[in-house]
Amino acid sequence: MILAIETSCDETCAAVCTPDGEVLSSVVASQVTDHAAFGGVVPEIASRRHLELLSPTVITALREAGIDEDQLTNVAVTGGPGLIGALLVGVSFAKGYAYARGLPLIAVDHLHGHVASLQLAENPPSGAHLVLLASGGHTLLIDVADDGSLTTIARSMDDAAGEAFDKGARLLGLGYPGGPALGGLAGTADPRTRAFTTPLHGRDDLAFSFSGLKTALALSVQSLAADDQFGRSELAASYQEAIVTHLVERAELGLARTGRTTLGVVGGVAANARLRDRLGELWADVVLAPLSACGDNAAMIAMASRRLSPLTPNELTSLDAHARSPLG
Ligand SMILES: Nc1ncnc2c1ncn2[C@@H]1O[C@H](COP(=O)(O)OP(=O)(O)OP(=O)(O)O)[C@@H](O)[C@H]1O
Ligand SMILES: [Mg+2]
Repeated sequence: MILAIETSCDETCAAVCTPDGEVLSSVVASQVTDHAAFGGVVPEIASRRHLELLSPTVITALREAGIDEDQLTNVAVTGGPGLIGALLVGVSFAKGYAYARGLPLIAVDHLHGHVASLQLAENPPSGAHLVLLASGGHTLLIDVADDGSLTTIARSMDDAAGEAFDKGARLLGLGYPGGPALGGLAGTADPRTRAFTTPLHGRDDLAFSFSGLKTALALSVQSLAADDQFGRSELAASYQEAIVTHLVERAELGLARTGRTTLGVVGGVAANARLRDRLGELWADVVLAPLSACGDNAAMIAMASRRLSPLTPNELTSLDAHARSPLG
């Protein structure tokens, strides 16, 4: 049994999985209400809350899995990328726990975790495939080879897709986190009335860009009457549509370039209903991460850990958190 721990941002997560990938429990203690008043994640508050929440979250995960600590065989933890102070809480806990119980410790890259969230889908991809990872910190196309090795083939030149949703939501006067709020405001408004230009449309750059779109939204919001609620909904719908179209177009280009016929879609933005809908336009087999595993969770960290070797005793002692991923 694997105990996995994830504290890279503002969710305190613990999960218990069997070695063959059955999730026995996955607990996510969200800190959203702690950060909402500030309009975004405050790193020091996140670290302090992880410190308070991690032990009870692990205890809950073990209880919900119905197992005894003696049945654990491995501990897996996110080593990065993410907020350093937040990561250090999980890494320190996992090191101490593994050392005290004499268990092997496996360090997992958070982005490998998002990719592995596809293993939690009803029909996980088998063999080589392309992954669109769209989260709060990253927008990547990752090629997964037959042997499971990962290569990033496209990244964002500026903001991440989730960041674009969060910043757009702020411009529209919505709360944090912005993605679900902006999707809610867009509702059934027509995205064509105030259509924004799709970033990099018609170009063959294998890259993403969202900052121009954000500027276009800022200018449009300025020219809107303060009480024009319908106009705000239309702007939200158009902005969301431009982000989604950009993601779908770049995924299509990535599929054509790599010749892959299966596309996995993961990360917080993969929860977006409009994106999930529009991905149906692609000719590829599309595998979506389950809604419960799009945002940060420890079940995906446990899944990713199954391919990795535990740290040696020396590596365990010197394991540190890291802010960046080689994939990012
Ligand atoms: N329904 C949704 N529509 C659009 N965006 C969404 C939706 N739900 C969540 N998001 C966005 O997903 C992001 C959070 O995703 P996730 O937790 O994977 O990111 P992160 O862990 O902060 O970043 P990373 O994984 O790159 O380190 C936020 O920016 C949030 O606004
Ligand atoms: Mg994440």
